[in-house]
Amino acid sequence: MNTRFLNALNGISSECPPIWLMRQAGRYLPEYLELRKKYSFLEMCHQPELAAEVTLLPFKRFDFDAAILFSDILILLEALGFQLRFVDATGPIIDNPLSKKEEVDQIKIPDVKEALSFIEKEIHLLKSQLKVPLIGFCGAPFTLASYLIEGKTSRDFTKTKKWMLREPETFHLLLEKISKCTIDYLHLQIDAGVDAIQIFDSWANALSYDQFQEFSSPYIRKIIELIAGRNIPTIVFCKGTAGFISSLIHTGAEAISVDWTCSLGEMRKSVPQHVTLQGNLDPHVLFASHSAIRESVYKILKQVDRRSRYIFNLGHGILPDTPLDAVNVLLDCVRALPMPSS
Ligand code: CP3
Repeated sequence: MNTRFLNALNGISSECPPIWLMRQAGRYLPEYLELRKKYSFLEMCHQPELAAEVTLLPFKRFDFDAAILFSDILILLEALGFQLRFVDATGPIIDNPLSKKEEVDQIKIPDVKEALSFIEKEIHLLKSQLKVPLIGFCGAPFTLASYLIEGKTSRDFTKTKKWMLREPETFHLLLEKISKCTIDYLHLQIDAGVDAIQIFDSWANALSYDQFQEFSSPYIRKIIELIAGRNIPTIVFCKGTAGFISSLIHTGAEAISVDWTCSLGEMRKSVPQHVTLQGNLDPHVLFASHSAIRESVYKILKQVDRRSRYIFNLGHGILPDTPLDAVNVLLDCVRALPMPSS
């Protein structure tokens, strides 16, 4: 088993940093696009054999140090009774989004072992094949709540924020229900064998500082607190890292995944040494020349101790159409020993 990734989370030094990429099993891979001609995205998520195959696809080309379960943060919303569709070129759609308080009252916490047994099976299949650690994941309650209210990806989250500001009690009830189900879901993933958990708060940057303190970070913190006894490290990713850094530290996560808008060096100075940092190359840099990619990667690596408490990643998911050789350039740079002085 390659232990570089878990070492970085546990504070054990390695010769060079571990590397994996958010969305590494996605649409930049020709093999993924081929499979997508035969199956819809949701079919791929629901069939454990297929989902496990997709998780492993990037490893046929790249020797990443960790795998991430192929699924989606929105799969949990199906278990909560919402109808989810993915429409090409549009993204996720919830056909029955929330529009009134009574609908929040009616949300029932499902038996996740029953509703999400396909995830358990996928993890079992993967654990028997993988030679690297497997990352399980979930969406943060605020990000999931925003999908339930908007019904789709939104530019300004007006419906969500109106609800949050006009009916904060109902909004908190919704966040509590999502959190409860998420905790069960993470226990299921841990029982099945995942080695680490990443929590995605992708739309946190829609919130003000105070709103993040009230409507997002306490729920992330609670989730981490309630799985802490399992001794599985957690990574928290949030768009808007710099503004929210003190509350992200307070969540108790073993690692913070830093978005590409901030200086990793500055983050290193404000985050306690026992917390691992992950990140933070702008995914668009992979469209630049190889020399520009190298330059950006070395610039990032110089801002941290490469051997300790650091995981290389992008500042958000890898984009469709990213050139495959750019990923090889990344891997070579991150593993270069010693690092070139240029
Ligand atoms: O890294 C991986 O490959 C693991 C699987 C994974 C997916 N989505 C696969 C996916 C993970 C960890 C996610 C998380 C996710 N899903 C987030 C949080 C991370 C982030 O990027 O902010 C969010 C917000 C979603 C919701 C979601 N899923 C959107 C908005 C979309 C459509 C637009 C887009 O970015 O692709 C998806 C679809 C999706 N999730 C695809 C994949 C591979 C593309 C599906 C396809 O068309 O084939």
